[in-house]
Amino acid sequence: MTLKDNDFDISQWADDAYVKKYVESVDIIIPDRRVFLDILSTFFATNFSKGVRVLDLGSGDGFFIERLLNIDDSIDAVLVDASPEMLRKAGDRLSAFENISFVESTFEGLLDDALPQELEGGFDLIISSLAIHHIALNRRGELFARIHSLLKDGGRFINFDISMSISDGLEDFYIKLWEERVIRLSKASGIEVDYKSFMAKHSDRDHHDKLSTLDGQLSTLRDASFKEVDVYYKHGLFAVYGGLRKGGSCGG
Ligand SMILES: C[S@@+](CC[C@H](N)C(=O)[O-])C[C@H]1O[C@@H](n2cnc3c(N)ncnc32)[C@H](O)[C@@H]1O
Repeated sequence: MTLKDNDFDISQWADDAYVKKYVESVDIIIPDRRVFLDILSTFFATNFSKGVRVLDLGSGDGFFIERLLNIDDSIDAVLVDASPEMLRKAGDRLSAFENISFVESTFEGLLDDALPQELEGGFDLIISSLAIHHIALNRRGELFARIHSLLKDGGRFINFDISMSISDGLEDFYIKLWEERVIRLSKASGIEVDYKSFMAKHSDRDHHDKLSTLDGQLSTLRDASFKEVDVYYKHGLFAVYGGLRKGGSCGG
């Protein structure tokens, strides 16, 4: 599938040097990503058994799918990302596993173009980490509805993402919490990262305009027909939440 003109092409994710820097420092600059890894593992183990089809939207370098495959190597996984460099890294990381497909597409492409054949047939589980906030706010509802349509009846969606705070006071508090954790982790690991410039991007208009509150994201999920919508974890700006598809046949 080819990329269409959209925000992705002018974003930092289209720059391979930025991708490299992100992958090298992400464990320090986003402490809750590791928390999500553990939540995802338990979520997977409690909800699913053998022969599961999993889709990762904005998969990056395949970090989360690798964890799931280490729990159950019978998983059939599809990774979607708009960055060829991320998908190349994911290919390297997952080279020992079978039944893995890679789809180079933007989220916008998944809404506007014909569905790639790898995404047909229904998924038991759709996961995403720190990616969905990159699609424009006015398309978030369409994307959640598409995710719902790609799930089998009884399938689940779990998303780890950043939110907009509900007040400036809370935003300052959450930013401070985030910064303190990053500094502590950086000191403990001895790894120095340019966290200030990374965190400054969060306040860039470009980035901030695409964020919605956590409540807003949960409402959008409910509007997209998800059931059992709930927050599984929240720490400052970061949250893990999800929903269930119940009833109806898969449209993917
Ligand atoms: C912060 S990284 C997260 C990667 C991975 N999920 C993780 O948590 O390590 C965001 C990912 O979203 C992808 N991305 C950004 N905008 C996108 C878009 N419009 N459509 C599809 N992927 C996009 C980037 O290429 C990148 O891999």
